[in-house]
Amino acid sequence: SPRPIIAPSLLAADFARLGEEVRAVQAAGADWLHIDVMDGHFVPNITLGPDIVRALKPHATVPMDVHLMIAPVDPYLEAFVEAGADIVSVHPESGPHLNRTLKRIRQLGARAGVVFNPSTSPSVIEWMMDEVDLILVMSINPGFGGQTFMHSQLAKIEALRRMIDASGRDIVLEVDGGVTADTARLCVDAGATALVAGTAVFRGGPDAYAANIAALRG
Ligand code: DX5
Ligand code: ZN
Repeated sequence: SPRPIIAPSLLAADFARLGEEVRAVQAAGADWLHIDVMDGHFVPNITLGPDIVRALKPHATVPMDVHLMIAPVDPYLEAFVEAGADIVSVHPESGPHLNRTLKRIRQLGARAGVVFNPSTSPSVIEWMMDEVDLILVMSINPGFGGQTFMHSQLAKIEALRRMIDASGRDIVLEVDGGVTADTARLCVDAGATALVAGTAVFRGGPDAYAANIAALRG
């Protein structure tokens, strides 16, 4: 299988030095920057908003992969794209009209992603394959970094890989949560083409980032 896209989650970075952290992971080989937006309502944690995305944009030399864990999500799409999000991913549970939301993201000029919670069925996307550029499978319940990978989600990654192949479309299949060197291999074998990792990238500080990212690539 080809080399997976590695998207370090800034949730595990030092928030007091975010610009430096962005430059450090990029120098260490990050392909994308994964940015976790949480509202304390859709998920039980609060992180950052569009102003932080805008502040980091001048430091970003790779695509900004923005994962929105907020509800309602529609009122904030424009702010995140204007701030510099290249990919905007939403949970189907965060609004009443997934089709409309994905079309809106593309209309704003970003790539559109759908995120699957551990309990969300692949069927959610069955009638949406033409509207989606990325599918993100959560291998944890969203809200916090540092959780343990749920092996139950591997079968869902395989099912979504089959759906993507059947569609004939070039859709990124990304996995997020508890991704380590060991679980990364399982995800890629199941058909994933992009891996999000927070703890596994940022552990050990800046001197360790390059080796950490290389280990995820396998
Ligand atoms: C959790 C976030 C993840 C998280 C992953 O809701 O979506 O991106 O940062 O962290 P690790 O890699 O530590 O599981
Ligand atoms: Zn995420």
